[in-house]
Amino acid sequence: MPLPEYCKNEYRSRADHKNILVAVAVCTHLGCTPTPRFQESPQPNLPDNWRGGFLCPCHGSTYDLAGRVFKNKPAPQNLDIPPFMFTSATQLVIGRTKREGLKWLAQTRK
Ligand code: FES
Repeated sequence: MPLPEYCKNEYRSRADHKNILVAVAVCTHLGCTPTPRFQESPQPNLPDNWRGGFLCPCHGSTYDLAGRVFKNKPAPQNLDIPPFMFTSATQLVIGRTKREGLKWLAQTRK
C-alpha cells in the first residue's frame, strides 16, 4: 500500500493530527497482529532502551510509534498507512481521502 502523500513526514500521519497514527495492524512479515507496547521501559522481548511502539508476538518484529519497523527484524517493511481523513475533531474515515471522502459523506447523508 503506498504511503499517502500527506503522511510523508516523521510521524507518518496528517500534519494537523500528528499525534494520531492510523495504520493497518497487520505485520508485514507473515500477517500477525502487532500489539501495542506504549510504555517506555525495559520489558520482556524488547530492548532496554524501548521508547514505545508495537511488538509482533509471532516472530518478534518491532515497530516504533509511527509504525516504522526496526532493522534486523523479520518484517520487511513498515506497517501500511491507509488513506484516511478527519471529518471532525473526533471522527475520522478510513479508506477515503479528503476529496473523495467529502463526496462520499454527501451521498451517505442524502
Ligand atoms: S508475523 Fe510478525 S514478525 Fe512474523
